[in-house]
Amino acid sequence: MSKEILPVGIWGTGIYVPERVLTNADLERMVDTSDEWIRTRTGIRTRHIAADHEAASDLAVQAARQALEDAGVAGEEIDLIIVATSSPDMLFPATACLVQHALGAKRAGAFDVQAGCSGFIYALACGSQFIAARAARTVLVVGTEVLSRLVNWQDRNTCVLFGDGAGAVVMGPVPEGYGILATRLGAEGSGGSLLSLPAGLSRYPASEETLAKKQHFIHMNGREVFKFAVKVMEESCREVLQAAGLDIKELDFLIPHQANIRIIEAAAKRLALPLERVWINVDRYGNTSAASIPLALHEALEAGRIQNGDHVVLVAFGAGLTWGATLLRWHDYRSKPLRRETDNHYPHEAL
Ligand code: ACO
Repeated sequence: MSKEILPVGIWGTGIYVPERVLTNADLERMVDTSDEWIRTRTGIRTRHIAADHEAASDLAVQAARQALEDAGVAGEEIDLIIVATSSPDMLFPATACLVQHALGAKRAGAFDVQAGCSGFIYALACGSQFIAARAARTVLVVGTEVLSRLVNWQDRNTCVLFGDGAGAVVMGPVPEGYGILATRLGAEGSGGSLLSLPAGLSRYPASEETLAKKQHFIHMNGREVFKFAVKVMEESCREVLQAAGLDIKELDFLIPHQANIRIIEAAAKRLALPLERVWINVDRYGNTSAASIPLALHEALEAGRIQNGDHVVLVAFGAGLTWGATLLRWHDYRSKPLRRETDNHYPHEAL
């Protein structure tokens, strides 16, 4: 068997959003805000909110089932499950283990990644390394969030921004020249306090005081996060393109983290990329954190906006502070199915 690293790509995608839709008009009745303010400052019109019985793993399982079906992969064939989330069902067991059980993924390892809204990019990077090094053949990566449980519904600065949802991809080897061409992960821990959920764990264990101070909710300095976001979105896009020896003009499609339409537009402008080549769904889902990139990727594919051979960048920023970008040369698995003999653990050689 060749010792060279394998090219890694995406074999299938899936999403799930809860049924309940919360509109800006609904929020007008909850806090001192207006549809006009929310639309013009964020671009958000609606967001989905999980039902009382739904937690992050429930959303993840629905998205994962769709991705597995799209990829033609059974639960038992998955070698590794990585779940990116900042709103896990509980601290432990990991949400990935709950997903592993629900999918009957008997031989899969499972762990969570926590990198705020950049979590999916971090998880994708982890998964691809396992496959490239032949330590796993089929990896399920899910971004899932029920941030509605972590939001202070009396804080207009944050409660209008977030939504619940999940997106999943199945990753595996792809033909040479396709798949992930470059990845860039970054962190700036000095900015951690700009976006945090301070209490409930080892620093500030849950107490009457932490409850009274509302420290179990998301706290954010929106203005500072905004400035940081525009900067790192542009820079990391440029970095992955440069790493692959590509010019910015060779970028065919951008899947940005969906936090605020103004952040997306500012980043696209700096990259001189027309908005027709950027997927935008923040208007319908709000900021779904680690779920936002796979939700957008799935929708862009369904809409036929990404073609075989396209250079696609996925880029995100989030709590940490963190950021990350992935550049893929898209392998259209739907029109060019892979040969995946299950008795050959590394079918790449036969591709
Ligand atoms: N309705 C009405 N007024 C509001 C609302 C609201 N929902 N929210 C804030 N305001 C007010 C503020 O109180 C402020 O009033 P003041 O000037 O009297 O103090 C005014 O609007 C302007 O506030 P700014 O913070 O300057 O507004 P800005 O244009 O920066 O928009 C926003 C705020 C939307 C939060 C923006 O800064 C933003 O999107 N930041 C990035 C946030 C982000 O992406 N977070 C996710 C990170 S990802 C993760 O890991 C979870």
